[in-house]
Amino acid sequence: MADPTIAGKVVVITGGGRGLGRAMALGLVGAGAKVTITASREGGELEKTAADAREIGGPDCVLPLKADVTSNDDCRRVIAETIEKLGGLHVVVSNAGRGMSYVSKNFVKERPRFWEIDVDIWRMIIDTNVNGPFQMAHAAMPHLVKQGWGRIVNVSTSLITMQRAGYAPYGSSKWAVEGETVIMAQDAEDTGVTVNILIPGGATDTAMIPGEVGTPGRSGADGNLFKPEIMVPPILYLTSDQSNGKNGDRYVSKLWDSELEPEAAAEKARFKAFRDREF
Ligand SMILES: NC(=O)c1ccc[n+]([C@@H]2O[C@H](COP(=O)([O-])OP(=O)(O)OC[C@H]3O[C@@H](n4cnc5c(N)ncnc54)[C@H](OP(=O)(O)O)[C@@H]3O)[C@@H](O)[C@H]2O)c1
Repeated sequence: MADPTIAGKVVVITGGGRGLGRAMALGLVGAGAKVTITASREGGELEKTAADAREIGGPDCVLPLKADVTSNDDCRRVIAETIEKLGGLHVVVSNAGRGMSYVSKNFVKERPRFWEIDVDIWRMIIDTNVNGPFQMAHAAMPHLVKQGWGRIVNVSTSLITMQRAGYAPYGSSKWAVEGETVIMAQDAEDTGVTVNILIPGGATDTAMIPGEVGTPGRSGADGNLFKPEIMVPPILYLTSDQSNGKNGDRYVSKLWDSELEPEAAAEKARFKAFRDREF
């Protein structure tokens, strides 16, 4: 049974049309939340996910919006329309991201060296993965702080991916979003809003990995792929009141043990974000 404090919460999920964002959107709707889902290009994916969400949560549970997280105007519009049309705002999940496939279709096997990549692609990935989460949080915070309750959840990646040779600019962009999150979390102390990082904990079967989604035997740089639904239990916890006050942490979905009560599972999947070391 879903935590009753999730019901009625309004969650914005950028990049909610496919992959991890779609799985989180459907999981949240199943637990009684309302969701805004965004994408910048694939309107058809947004409409499909919205239709699937309505099957689960009824006609008013989802707001699909074509919006680009690299545009500050679009980010502000997403927040404003969510409050107006879904009646509030509680959680922003900055999940939209662009990966290494924009650099090279075969990036897992043949890793491009940083001087071989196109500088415009570097800018596009950094703009999406770094400026996007900043602009979404910047647009949402005034409402959340006034409300005295809110969540910013920034989706990042495993340390191994952040530092892997041949993974510029994707790895670099996730270092930046992790640093951004640490500062946001400290700035948000005592506001009732928390800022945390959520990662799957390994490569996941989405369009971000070379090949067709769902193909048997498909694998990422670390081997087998997780299913996108791996993100659902931690995002439900982070949306619920059970995570009140839990701020500046990193949640690793693959370490979530659904056999445990949510707080015990969260304890096992939670790490302090990078601010414990002096140098
Ligand atoms: N898959 C993995 O192995 C893995 C592992 C660790 C972390 N992650 C992270 O998980 C998140 C989701 O990735 P995914 O694997 O689900 O990828 P995905 O299947 O490619 O989905 C990415 C989503 O983000 C949207 N998007 C991209 N750029 C956008 C922009 N500028 N504005 C608005 N929406 C945008 C895409 O829609 P449009 O193309 O229509 O804009 C799409 O809906 C990313 O942050 C990724 O870095 C993924």
